[in-house]
Amino acid sequence: MAKVKKAFFCRNCGFEAPKWLGKCPSCGEWNTFAEEIVARETSPAAAATAGLRGTVVPQRVREIRESDHRRIDTGDAEVNRVLGGGVVPGSLILLGGEPGIGKSTLALQLALGDNRLRTLYVSGEESAEQIRMRADRIGIRNEECLIYPETVLENITAQIVEQRPDLVVIDSIQTICTDLIESSAGSVSQIRECAATLLKYAKTTSTAIFIIGHITKDGTIAGPKILEHIVDVVLQFEGDSNNCYRILRGIKNRFGATFEIGVFEMLDNGLRSVANPSEILLSHYEEPLSGIAVGASADGLRPYLIEVQALVCGAAYGTPQRSATGFDARRMNMLLAVLEKRVGMKMFQKDVFLNFAGGFKVADPGLDLAVVAAVISSYYDRAVNEGVCCAGEIGLSGEVRPAPRTEQRISEAARLGFRRIIVSGYIAKNLKRPRGIEIVPINSVTELPKALFME
Ligand code: TYD
Ligand code: MG
Repeated sequence: MAKVKKAFFCRNCGFEAPKWLGKCPSCGEWNTFAEEIVARETSPAAAATAGLRGTVVPQRVREIRESDHRRIDTGDAEVNRVLGGGVVPGSLILLGGEPGIGKSTLALQLALGDNRLRTLYVSGEESAEQIRMRADRIGIRNEECLIYPETVLENITAQIVEQRPDLVVIDSIQTICTDLIESSAGSVSQIRECAATLLKYAKTTSTAIFIIGHITKDGTIAGPKILEHIVDVVLQFEGDSNNCYRILRGIKNRFGATFEIGVFEMLDNGLRSVANPSEILLSHYEEPLSGIAVGASADGLRPYLIEVQALVCGAAYGTPQRSATGFDARRMNMLLAVLEKRVGMKMFQKDVFLNFAGGFKVADPGLDLAVVAAVISSYYDRAVNEGVCCAGEIGLSGEVRPAPRTEQRISEAARLGFRRIIVSGYIAKNLKRPRGIEIVPINSVTELPKALFME
């Protein structure tokens, strides 16, 4: 009888402890610990490493074969971009997102896309008929896609070996289980064991594997954090479920940069790539309205323009209300404090509401200037001049610092027909100036109102 090793895991965050605990020291939840089998003496992982021992030797970096970096075109420009140019064969990619955001749709679309890849689509959540219905909606452009409703890991790996697909989709890791472990599907040790086995198959058969994973309320991938350590790439699919726009974000990428984003729109017939995000993030108004400003942002290499709306009004209660949608609320409070102290605006008496177009979450400090511009415009109830946009970061003493990749932001604004862009004065001298756009340099936030409202 093989010796089994057991441990206790927090069902909420995956924290591992040798004994049962009432309260999780990692996430603070009560009564979440459950005992699970971690490994048998002859676990497949241990056996695999034993077999590998001695077969790999250290090499000089230049002697490593270049072909290891070959990339497969997924047939979707946005997905390719986020992955850093395509899928690397043998890589394990985790696609995370809240339920209903469109992970299965995106994965099936890749499987059925125009890419001449042979895909094995494993679904533990939906039946083959359900997938067929969805496939009909999004259109079948690739006859080579195999649909396989299965939840037992051993059967799945057997099919990977038999069918030799280029791409495997596991929808979702929380529904897959291996016979080697007693605990139920979705438990921490099941997820970890299944992911480790899939990683081994990905590497030995050079198959790229997409693993779909659900996300808990607090935004982390459900189950263990350890999944993020095992996989090569972590992609997060996010968006507001009331809104049709979705962002695919790279959080970890062993083969490329992580700052790229892909933008999609959810339509009746699947997801449409949005090649030009500015087109959906800017509204067109008949007449100028106060409280609206446009920021030139750059997430990844791609610059885009996004509209910021602010509403500033007298606080009805003693403590003013502050709410930000799509923007870090603490950063907003910091910017409001800067306005209070440096510009002398009486923000302590005001409720402030902030909103970004399209339900987008932004974390670009270069949008500070646009946020402050929208607040100033609403505070004075005066519309920002038409065709004006901003790109700059604001410091605690009210200084306007250069936003990363300011030149790309300026070119994007010029391309979209903006007449004037407000940027940091500290770099304005060295900037390339595209035709048709005036660059207004400011060094301090105190100069912003004049720049926004000047004729
Ligand atoms: P789904 O991919 O099932 O989400 P997940 O796998 O992340 O849980 O899709 C979720 C939503 O997308 C669903 O509520 C319906 C919507 N949808 C469309 O609007 N258009 C479509 O063509 C498809 C396939 C789905
Ligand atoms: Mg799904």
